[in-house]
Order: sequence, then structure tokens, then C-alpha cells
Amino acid sequence: METLLQGLRAVSEPTRLRILMLCAHAELSVTELVQVLGQSQPRVSRHLKLMVEANLLERHQEGSRAFYRMSEDSDVSDLARMLVDLTPDDDDVISVDLERLDEIKLQRAQVAEEYFRRNAQNWEDMRGQHIDDESVDARLKRRILSAPVRDLLDIGTGTGRVLRLVGEDVRAAVGVDNSREMLAIARSYLDQEVLRNCQVRHADMYRLPFPAHRFDAVTANMLMHYADSPADMVREAARVLRPGGRLVLVDFASHDLADLRERHAHRWLGFSDTDVERLFTKAGLEIQEVERIDGGDLTVCIWTGKSRIEIANDLVAEAL
Ligand SMILES: C[S@@+](CC[C@H](N)C(=O)[O-])C[C@H]1O[C@@H](n2cnc3c(N)ncnc32)[C@H](O)[C@@H]1O
Repeated sequence: METLLQGLRAVSEPTRLRILMLCAHAELSVTELVQVLGQSQPRVSRHLKLMVEANLLERHQEGSRAFYRMSEDSDVSDLARMLVDLTPDDDDVISVDLERLDEIKLQRAQVAEEYFRRNAQNWEDMRGQHIDDESVDARLKRRILSAPVRDLLDIGTGTGRVLRLVGEDVRAAVGVDNSREMLAIARSYLDQEVLRNCQVRHADMYRLPFPAHRFDAVTANMLMHYADSPADMVREAARVLRPGGRLVLVDFASHDLADLRERHAHRWLGFSDTDVERLFTKAGLEIQEVERIDGGDLTVCIWTGKSRIEIANDLVAEAL
């Protein structure tokens, strides 16, 4: 009861309810919250501290910046979710906050889009700057093809690297990307390598233009650290997976090279196994395998998740 009362006390103030609403919609830094709320940084920080202590919010340190999001697994998470559901989106104050939040999300997306537009031509040289590409590619290929794949989707395909890697070994593959410059290069590579079963399409990772259960493997190679909302990205990837299908996610393990944010528009400084396991679980996937490829100051991980429906089917089959 004390936990619940502490949660209620922590949110019973207008700014704190606004903060809870905002952090339910996105993971935000103090600076971004100050921008939306129009209040001083010390004031906002005080509210945040109180809400973290009451377990309504989680604080996530990323290099020199801290991000806040609504708690998912604490004793008061249900209370937080209920309060957010009860707060009307069309309330005068809340609707302005959510509009400002949309602007922040748009600005974040524009930074990454502009980066890839500028670097599309040099991407093949740049992508190997921090890690040995060849060994990642070899391990990734083995992982994707560790089970038969008929239909493959590669999200954030860029210059179509994954399609070129496994195109000959699958029945059909499609790559999606929201950068037309990247896609133009991918198309020309696919033409050169005469991969007629592969195609690329312009699409957003959060709104894939495919029906549910369309693919038996989905890959996202070095995409998630650009995603404003990794949870939404993984959920959308899981949606288009067939029962028993696999999501193969390649990204950096957590690191502290904060300058990658400014120099290369990274949104996240890598991910821990716990982060990814949490994302997978929420999307209905179970971690099947984690591989690590050390590359000096950065480690690349290949996380494979399998749709839980198939795992359940496997268990039933075993029991019979
Ligand atoms: C780091 S590159 C990786 C490209 C490729 N997977 C590779 O390994 O070479 C990330 C790619 O994700 C794309 N991307 C970023 N945000 C996206 C979004 N919202 N929807 C689709 N693609 C996106 C970028 O345009 C870029 O081509």
C-alpha cells in the first residue's frame, strides 16, 4: 500500500502528470523535457528525481546524458499506465505538450535522415570504420541461414548489404529504407549482382507496408541505434514475422563513445542484453541466441529472437 501511495503522491501535481504523459510516449532527456514544458531545468530535474524515486519513471544513463521513460516493470507500472490512459489527449495542456513532443521526434528523425542522405555515396567505406565488417557479415550470414528462409525482410537495408549477403540463398528478399539516396545505391548493386529475387522499397521502419506474418526471417543490421523508439521498431518487425519466424538484430553492445552521437547521428550508445531481451519479450519474441564480435572499443552483437508462438508449438509437439 505504501508503494502505491508513494506513486500517487509523486504524480499528484500538474507538471508531474504532464511528465508522466510525455515519458509514456517517448524516452526523453532533461533538455527535451525542459523544451516541452517550458520550465527551468532545476525544477524539471527535481520533479524527475521524485518520480524516479517513486518508481514511476526509469532513468537510463547514456554517456553524459540521462533519458527518462515510464517504468514498465515496477510495482507502480500499472498505476502509471492507468493514469496515462485516464488523462485525455485532447486536454488543452496535454495536447500542446504532445504537439511539442512530435516536433522533437521530427527533429530527431531529420538529423538521422540528413546524415544518411549526405553519406549515402560513401556508406560502403564508412560502415566498416568501427568494426571488422567481414567477420560481422560472415557471422550474420551463418545466423540468418541457420534455418531455411523463404521470405526475408531487411529493415534499414541501406545499400542492400544483407540482401547481397544472403540473396542467393533465400527464395525472395525485400529491403526497406527511408532514405531514397541509400535505396538508389542498393538498386544499382542488386542490378550489378543480378539478384532478381531481391527488391528494395521506400518505407519507414515503424510502418512496414506488409501484412502480418509475411516473412520467416527479418533482419535489422545496425539500424536500432538510430531508432527513436527501439520498442516500436522491434514490435513492428515482430508483427510481420510468421509464427516461428526469427528476428536477427545486429547492433553495438552498450558503449561510452558519446561522440558517435554528434559525428554519426547515433541515437543510442549501444544496447545491453537485458535491453534487447526486454524489447523482444514485449514484442512476443524469445531470445534464441546472442553472438558477440569484439572490435576494440566497440563490440557488435547479433541477437536472434524467435516468435514465442512457435516455441509454444514446439513444446506441445515434444509433449505429444
Ligand atoms: C547504419 S545504416 C545500416 C544500413 C545497412 N543495414 C548496413 O548494415 O549497411 C542504417 C540505415 O537505416 C535507415 N533508416 C534510418 N531510419 C529509418 C527509418 N525510420 N525507416 C527505415 N529506414 C531507416 C537509414 O537510412 C540507413 O540506411
